[in-house]
Amino acid sequence: MRFLVTGCAGFIGSNLSDSLLAAGHEVVGIDRFAEYYDPQLKRHNLAEALQHPEFSLTELDLSKDPIPTDLCEVDGVFHLAAQAGVRASWGKEFATYTDDNILATQRLLEAMVNSETMPRIVYSSSSSIYGNALSRPTLESALPAPVSPYGVTKLAAEHLCESYAHNFGVETVSLRYFTVYGPRQRPDMAFNRFIRSALTGATVYLYGDGEQSRDFTFIADIVAANIAAMNNHNARGAYNIGGGSTITVNEILALISEVSGCPIDIHREPRQLGDVLHTSADTSRAQADLGFAPTVTLADGIAREIDWMRSII
Ligand code: UGA
Repeated sequence: MRFLVTGCAGFIGSNLSDSLLAAGHEVVGIDRFAEYYDPQLKRHNLAEALQHPEFSLTELDLSKDPIPTDLCEVDGVFHLAAQAGVRASWGKEFATYTDDNILATQRLLEAMVNSETMPRIVYSSSSSIYGNALSRPTLESALPAPVSPYGVTKLAAEHLCESYAHNFGVETVSLRYFTVYGPRQRPDMAFNRFIRSALTGATVYLYGDGEQSRDFTFIADIVAANIAAMNNHNARGAYNIGGGSTITVNEILALISEVSGCPIDIHREPRQLGDVLHTSADTSRAQADLGFAPTVTLADGIAREIDWMRSII
């Protein structure tokens, strides 16, 4: 089959592209190589895919460039292109979030509903749409109440998917990821920074008291959820995709130190605006409709991210 992956050079998009290619599919990738973090890291993520005869890359900005018709004639779309990062979404940076997360999604949806194939779309959403959820583990039916501008844009794009599904009949699914980690993780994220500190001695800034917790999810489980969401044509609406092991940031620091065998030089910083206190996914809907079940334990996943970071440092 032929799939479009937007944001194909990013952390999740590149891992997904590699898996689709390995499974014998054709992948047409889009990326704009934004400078939120070093674009060279993204080029590195794509090194393997670019050698593959069934992979092609188009560099374009979904929020403003024309989307070529041939990129829309596909069997399915994995929409991962986004301006990520919760804590950076305040102030004037918000314009990038509205362009890359809302406008880009709307333009992609327009292109898809006007294509011959009107492909199924799996949209990458985020646990940040819940904000500080009143009940945990949180069900998809919980009232969304984002506490960061980033979360607001991810929720808006979910609503756009639903609007286009309702009015045009395009099949859409939103996967609400809970803090993803593993090889190729973005350099602004906690595990990447903590492991880098363990391996190089670089200082780590711990935001708040470290008692905030996350339902961290390993990248391979996210890739599997995307493929299941594409293949299960009856699946619709939003699904929580969480790793099933909620743990505090303090405990993560200790675990990374233990698994790597290296101390971490921790400096304290105030709690960051937009950071939620706790996340925990109820994944029963994903389990029932997508057969989703997380397979990678935190200790194993951390060891795999450490191996990857050792290879790039
Ligand atoms: C992550 C992603 O960055 C978002 O794009 C995604 O949408 C979101 O998960 C989600 O699940 O919805 P976050 O949970 O903030 O956001 O992930 P990390 O950057 O890995 O941070 C985890 C925790 O570690 C946060 O409480 C953060 O404040 C803390 N942290 C992070 C630090 O204490 N120091 C750091 O240097 C980085």
